[in-house]
Amino acid sequence: MNNVIDFINVNRERYLDELKALLAIPSISALPEHAPDVRRCAEWCADEMRRVGLQGVELIETPGNPVVYGEWKGAEGAPTILFYGHYDVQPVDPLDLWTTPPFEATVRDGEIYARGAADDKGQVFMHLKAIEAHIKQNGRLPVNIKIILEGEEEVGSVNLDNFVKANREKLAADVVVISDSAMFARGVPSICYGLRGLVYFQIDLRGSSTDLHSGVFGGAVANPAMVLAQMLAQCKDRSGNIKIAGFYDDVVPLQDEERKAWATLPFNEKQYRKDFGIPKVHGEPGYTTLERTWARPTFEVNGLLSGFTGEGAKTVLPAVAMAKVSMRLVPNQDPDKIAKLFEDYLAKIAPKTVEVKVTRMHGGKPWMASFDNKYIQAAGRAIEQGFGRAPVFTREGGSIPVVATFQEELGLPSVLFGVGLPDENAHAPNEKLDCGNFQSGIISSAILYEEIGKIR
Ligand code: BES
Ligand code: ZN
Repeated sequence: MNNVIDFINVNRERYLDELKALLAIPSISALPEHAPDVRRCAEWCADEMRRVGLQGVELIETPGNPVVYGEWKGAEGAPTILFYGHYDVQPVDPLDLWTTPPFEATVRDGEIYARGAADDKGQVFMHLKAIEAHIKQNGRLPVNIKIILEGEEEVGSVNLDNFVKANREKLAADVVVISDSAMFARGVPSICYGLRGLVYFQIDLRGSSTDLHSGVFGGAVANPAMVLAQMLAQCKDRSGNIKIAGFYDDVVPLQDEERKAWATLPFNEKQYRKDFGIPKVHGEPGYTTLERTWARPTFEVNGLLSGFTGEGAKTVLPAVAMAKVSMRLVPNQDPDKIAKLFEDYLAKIAPKTVEVKVTRMHGGKPWMASFDNKYIQAAGRAIEQGFGRAPVFTREGGSIPVVATFQEELGLPSVLFGVGLPDENAHAPNEKLDCGNFQSGIISSAILYEEIGKIR
C-alpha cells in the first residue's frame, strides 16, 4: 500500500493539470445548447477510465445523456464496489460574479476554482486517480469495482431509475461508494448517512392576453405577480411551517439520540452567519440549524419572474408571472405523494381571476441508512488514515436521487464519503475544491479500496 501512497504523493501536480482538462468541458445538463458538451464530457471520462486501466469501458445510451461505465473484476473473492458519480454540472449564471471563468480552472490560495470542481467532477476524478495509482503500481486493484458516471444528476436523474432496473445484473455489487457531498467543516472529514429528497415545480400564471396599462386596468383586473406572491405566501407561514394539507403526515420525527449526536458537532452559528452573509438564521421553532437542514422538509421558491424589472419605472400590469419552486423531503415522504398534495393545494387556493399551469419537473426520494455496517467502518479507517482524523457522521440537506434507488432496487448500502466543504460554492459562482482535500481524498479512496477489499 505504501508504494501506492508514494505514487499519489509524487503525482500531486499532474492530478491538478489533468483535472483542469475535465473541468474545461461545459457539461451543463440543464441547458439544451450544451448537449454536445455533455456528450464530449462523457467521452472524455470514458477515455480517462481506459487510461487509468479500467476495463469494459463503454458509453451506455439512455433516452437522455449517456451513462459512462467501466469495471475491474480481477480481485477474486473480494467484494465488489459500485462507484457512482456524475459528470454533468449546474449552469454558471450569473457569470459576472465569477472571479475567473467557470470553465478555465484556476488554482488560487490552495483551491481549484471552476464549475464542477467539487460537484462532482473533482470528487469523481479523485477516485479515478486512486484506481490509477493501484493499477500503475501493482498491476491490480485490491477490490472489484464497477463505475457508473451519470450525465443527468443535476436535472433530477430522470433516466437513471430505469437504467438501474434494466441493468441489475451488470450493476450487481456489495456496496455503493459515492463522493458527491461535503465534509462537515475544514479539517473535519465526514461520512453522510442521510440525504433529503426533492420535488420540483414550475408555476405559470396568466391574468390577461397581453400586458396592460396599470392605470387603465389596475384595480379591475387581477395582477398575476400579486396573485402568485399571495399563493406562494399561503404555502409556508412566517416561521417556516408548510401549510400544504397532509405535507407532514409521513415525516419521521427526529430521534433524541441523533439530536444529541449532532449537538456535539463543531457547528458555530455565528460563523455560519458570517461565512454566508446571513443577518439572522430562520426556520421552524424548536429546531437547530443542522436539524432544520438535515432532518426537516422545506418549501422554497427557487426563482420568480414577472413584469417590468428594467431600469427606471414602467406602469404596467403584467400578463404573466412564473415561479420555480421545490420542496426538500425527509424520510418517509414520497415525492409522488407530495407532488399530488401540492397540486391539489394549489388548485384549492388559486383564484378564478388567473389561469394557472402547474408543471412537475423532477424529484427524488429521501434516503437514510444506519451506519454500523462493515463498509462504513472500512471507510472510517480509510478516512482516518487519509485525513489524520476519524470522520464524524452527518446527514445532508442536498439530494442524490439514485441513492434510494440503489437501496430499494439493488438492496445495496451506500458509503457517502465527500471531500467538498460547506463553503465550496456548489451551484453558485466561484465553485471551488480545496487542493489539499482533493489530495487527501485520493489517498483515502486508495486506502478505502484496500480496506473494503479485505472484507469477506
Ligand atoms: N452533490 C449534490 C448533492 C449534495 C449536496 C449532497 C450537498 C450532499 C450535500 C448534487 O449534485 C446535487 O446538487 N443534487 C441536486 C439534485 C436534484 C437536482 C434532484 C440537488 O440536491 O439539488
Ligand atoms: Zn449538484
